[in-house]
Amino acid sequence: LDRKVRQNNQEEGNFINYKKMAENLAIVRSRLNRPLTYAEKILYSHLDDPHGQEIERGVSYLKLRPDRVACQDATAQMAILQFMSAGMPSVANPTTVHCDHLIEAQVGGPKDLARAVDINKEVYDFLATSCAKYNIGFWRPGSGIIHQILLENYAFPGGLLIGTDSHTPNAGGLGMCAIGVGGADAVDVMANLPWELKAPKVIGIKLTGEMSGWTSAKDIILKVAGILTVKGGTGAIVEYFGPGTASISATGMGTICNMGAEVGATTSLFPFNDRMYDYLAATKRKEIGDFARVYAKDLKEDEGAEYDQLIELNLSELEPHINGPFTPDLATPISKFSEAVKANNWPEELKVGLIGSCTNSSYEDMSRAASIARDALDHGVKAKSLFTVTPGSEQIRATIERDGQLSTLEEFGGMILANACGPCIGQWDRQDVKKGEANSIISSYNRNFTGRNDANPATHSFVTSPDLVVAMTIAGSLHFNPLTDKLKDKDGNEFLLSPPTGEGLPSRGYDPGQDTYQAPPKDRATVSVAVSPTSDRLQLLEPFAPWDGKDKLDLPILIKTKGKTTTDHISMAGPWLKYRGHLDNISNNMLIGAVNADNGEANKVKNFTTGEYDAVPATARDYKKKGIPWVVIGDWNYGEGSSREHAALEPRHLGGLAIITRSFARIHETNLKKQGMLPLTFIDPADYDKIQPFDKVDLLCTELAVGKPITLVVHPKDGESFEIKLAHTFNAPQIEWFKNGSALNTMAKAHAK
Ligand code: F3S
Repeated sequence: LDRKVRQNNQEEGNFINYKKMAENLAIVRSRLNRPLTYAEKILYSHLDDPHGQEIERGVSYLKLRPDRVACQDATAQMAILQFMSAGMPSVANPTTVHCDHLIEAQVGGPKDLARAVDINKEVYDFLATSCAKYNIGFWRPGSGIIHQILLENYAFPGGLLIGTDSHTPNAGGLGMCAIGVGGADAVDVMANLPWELKAPKVIGIKLTGEMSGWTSAKDIILKVAGILTVKGGTGAIVEYFGPGTASISATGMGTICNMGAEVGATTSLFPFNDRMYDYLAATKRKEIGDFARVYAKDLKEDEGAEYDQLIELNLSELEPHINGPFTPDLATPISKFSEAVKANNWPEELKVGLIGSCTNSSYEDMSRAASIARDALDHGVKAKSLFTVTPGSEQIRATIERDGQLSTLEEFGGMILANACGPCIGQWDRQDVKKGEANSIISSYNRNFTGRNDANPATHSFVTSPDLVVAMTIAGSLHFNPLTDKLKDKDGNEFLLSPPTGEGLPSRGYDPGQDTYQAPPKDRATVSVAVSPTSDRLQLLEPFAPWDGKDKLDLPILIKTKGKTTTDHISMAGPWLKYRGHLDNISNNMLIGAVNADNGEANKVKNFTTGEYDAVPATARDYKKKGIPWVVIGDWNYGEGSSREHAALEPRHLGGLAIITRSFARIHETNLKKQGMLPLTFIDPADYDKIQPFDKVDLLCTELAVGKPITLVVHPKDGESFEIKLAHTFNAPQIEWFKNGSALNTMAKAHAK
């Protein structure tokens, strides 16, 4: 029962602790005394304090100890820079970094990869050296997409993983609870802080029946997305169960969990079953499969487990679906699709079909796709539309090269792209249509928001199974239904495509391909991290200064914002993402989207020292240079939107002390605390109106104590000074963050002791 089974084949000292998990679960069970869902079992067995933790689904905040952290290359940069500033010698929990987001598709795999390695050299060098230094596994560009690599190497049943990418839930295909998070959360776990998550609700999806013909695993999630919509999974884990789960391959379950991100779910997962065992064995982890079998009763839902919402799907009746355009929850069964194209005036001609991505690039997906392509080739026809193939990993690419699917797809007309995100994240130098031209494309990806693939807002992007992508690519038309419509062969004779066939796992085993993994070296002390002082993309972070123990008097209001101030207003994305590893450069976008209550304009505030109007970041910099801390006054739900850590780092970097609002979005509020800022709220929301943009304020920081208000003394430009009471949600450990300058400084201090 307490065997030592390694989490994976890459790392020596990291083991799967089913015994400890079972003990934690027993403690929680004795307290809750009710049957548990599988999602609950995984979460509660990873509690920091199983005895004391309050547990109410949808209400309590769980403090958790994840087994692993994974980062993709775009989000890893700031996460690692922050971690480094704590001065710890290595990450406290097993962590990997994956280079997949920065490779642009242009002319095909090898050349595109070589170009990306050149363009992103400094980022890759930084990641490679910092990973080596801090004991992080590093997957080089060309290795594949983060979620495929995780499934092939790191995911295990019952584990808890956080990843800095929204499709981290893909690992649910191996029964792991894998959750997408912001960089700040990843840094916490790297530095050994417990990770906080609002106890999710659980949506149960009971699968019965069995798929056949053209229906595939993707259709399950396409259908579920239609039922739940893009908001329906918010705050919930989607948990599949029932006899239908046995007919789906592990990678197929991965596809379903992956795209659960499109309904806003915290994650999705399947209970441990024989299909997972087979996949573990095929990927050289049979020992994990055997170990999981010993604990099998903990790796599924309890009999009678209660779900907050229950959906039933009969797979025998499930039709293939196509979702889109512009949103992944507009689900249309194939039998109704042609009608929908007509009724909505969607461009009929199919310009490009794209298969692969983290969602759908398994051996099974590629084999089925190739079987359809082979059928067409045997009839003397090929892809009419442009056609691209993105293998999810080097292992998949090498295996389908060896087994012939790759050459079939090429012969069919496919361009094989690098093992990377490519067109899925807009890394696509698309040439076949002009910007603004209405056109249709169809992919086996997961997201199809406006402009996501090619930055053309007029592109109608649809998502479906790889099977349907290939079939429709042959016809070159959105009106084609391969289940009922005939095609013409090279002699003009009609034929019906055969339904796809393909093995779930390669009978000859996987071919690992080129070795693209960099293990951390034994001697890490001598490794130096490569960051050029002249780089405009990367900058080492200095720890923020601790609080000097004093009240802060006569502070200017940098900006009083009006209406919505989302994390996009605070730290815009788009072109700024290039600077995500350079705090000083990216800080030039700080609050430039927020509306100034003074003049109703964005990015135009008055500098009280000069009387001149200037950009918000420039004004903040001037105050910082002059040694004047400042505050922001904000409206309701300040900081809503994606959990971007830059939105909290930037005001801290540019000399901000407090953000005072009517209310906060919780994640942003916590992020501000972590960076050593003071997020405060008006006890009486009407006080927001009493403060004017040109007033000065005193903030009595020395009053900061758990559960006690803080006084703000307002000195209006004209008139008498008055006091306002501010609330906060700091607990005792968080107050230490403020005192020490940041949560990381606090961790570093504890570590030094
Ligand atoms: Fe990459 Fe697209 Fe997946 S961006 S991680 S392939 S969703």
